[in-house]
Amino acid sequence: MIDFVNVKKAYPNGTMALKGVNLHIDEGEFVFIVGHSGAGKTTLMKLLLREEKISSGRLTVSNFDLANMSDLRVPYYRRELGVVFQDFRLFPKKTVFENVAFAMEVVGTPRKKIVRRVPAILNTVNLAGKQDSFPHEISGGEQQRVVLARALANNPKVIIADEPTGNLDPKMSLEIMSLLMKINRLGKTVIVITHEKDLVDYYKQRVVILKDGLIVEDRVGGMFNEEV
Ligand SMILES: Nc1ncnc2c1ncn2[C@@H]1O[C@H](COP(=O)(O)OP(=O)(O)OP(=O)(O)O)[C@@H](O)[C@H]1O
Ligand SMILES: [Mg+2]
Repeated sequence: MIDFVNVKKAYPNGTMALKGVNLHIDEGEFVFIVGHSGAGKTTLMKLLLREEKISSGRLTVSNFDLANMSDLRVPYYRRELGVVFQDFRLFPKKTVFENVAFAMEVVGTPRKKIVRRVPAILNTVNLAGKQDSFPHEISGGEQQRVVLARALANNPKVIIADEPTGNLDPKMSLEIMSLLMKINRLGKTVIVITHEKDLVDYYKQRVVILKDGLIVEDRVGGMFNEEV
């Protein structure tokens, strides 16, 4: 479903962030993407989101050819993707319910469906009792689960998370990771960018290691003792 074929990305200042990436991810897979700071992880994610365009090669997601897609189609394409960032980007003056509902409102979902679906999603991420709380009234881990709920709101095929546990303590990190695994078992393709070796080792999933803009390892079962 996701196909990078010899993808290169040069930023306008000349930095070659990706130097020829080949990566195939099937529907329903769970993949960790790891690598040193500056390796190109966020760039890979931005290309997937079509926030940045590839410089050469080929990048397709489902039936979308990201290099040749018109800008008009981008918002439509992005509904295939649910995104989780490290910095939560919740609306401080909206409740938990409203934060999730907003993602559905912007794509024109009928109110009736929103009212039905939001509690169900909050239930999936174990936040059933918190729907009327404001972000400042809940913990960091709970806030991150709201972000996850929001990413799920429009029923995307793929969830992409860039350092979703970066600001969380180890216990909360485990909780978020367990939820991402659960979401994967519910049928979604999940891509997690992380620095946290312990988590990667613990979950024993496919691991793609980026180094200086290239994939240097792609295997199942943790990072072992490698320095990345
Ligand atoms: N907008 C930009 N313009 C120019 N260079 C950029 C831009 N964004 C990233 N880079 C460069 O591209 C390379 C890859 O950056 P990227 O953000 O993808 O790394 P990363 O693996 O996500 O790192 P980190 O773990 O620190 O988040 C780095 O050399 C970075 O300095
Ligand atoms: Mg990054």
